[in-house]
Amino acid sequence: MVAAVLEFETPRLAAEACGRRTLELLEAAVRFRGIAYLAVSGGNTPRMMFDWMSRRDFDWSSVHIFWVDERCVDPDDVLSNYRMTRESLLDHIAVLPDQIHRVRSELPPDQAAARYVDEIQGVLGDQPVFDVIQRGMGNDSHTASLFPGEPLLADRDHIAASVWVAKLGQNRVTLLPGVLARARHTVCLVTGNEKREALDGVLNGPFDIRLRPAQIQSVATEWFVDEAAWPD
Ligand code: 6PG
Repeated sequence: MVAAVLEFETPRLAAEACGRRTLELLEAAVRFRGIAYLAVSGGNTPRMMFDWMSRRDFDWSSVHIFWVDERCVDPDDVLSNYRMTRESLLDHIAVLPDQIHRVRSELPPDQAAARYVDEIQGVLGDQPVFDVIQRGMGNDSHTASLFPGEPLLADRDHIAASVWVAKLGQNRVTLLPGVLARARHTVCLVTGNEKREALDGVLNGPFDIRLRPAQIQSVATEWFVDEAAWPD
């Protein structure tokens, strides 16, 4: 598996570098095509990155923001990825409502997924290609809401789906492998000692996305990691 691994001393330095790269890639997409499509992940790790991005002098007016996955909770629920992104980024940048494409996570999971697919198709067509997908990784090697052993890991044809995550007792909506693999650029932000074993398996272990979903990569994948997660 060929991937660029960029290691930083601290989680903050890794988050800032990932944020800087994301803005660079978005700016290039806008320069080249006049518009840019970004999909972001949730959880805790991206918060520091979003906070750094929110304080940059960046023109967001041609960027459309989507989510890699979402928990099936109300958008103002503390578990909501949209809420985390709104608090750490969206509330602090100049974007119009029609640039924000959240999962309607307050709906029943299958309806939320169907609505999200419609929204993505309405903007990006039936074979959506994001300019930048920002992903994280769990300490079990999951990415998006695709966990080891998930049958949806074999789905290269559809855009998004609802999924029951038994280990968390949560319904979620997630982009599917085909969309993740088609991204023009993927930036993965992984920090913390608790990710160390999983990251070693993903980057150095045998390629098997059924076991290590975070091994799903696109044509240009860059990993932004700290020393705790990637002791070289
Ligand atoms: C989510 C995320 C998920 C995340 C990993 C890592 O909804 O939880 O999209 O895929 O990237 O679980 O989460 P942390 O950053 O909290 O470790």
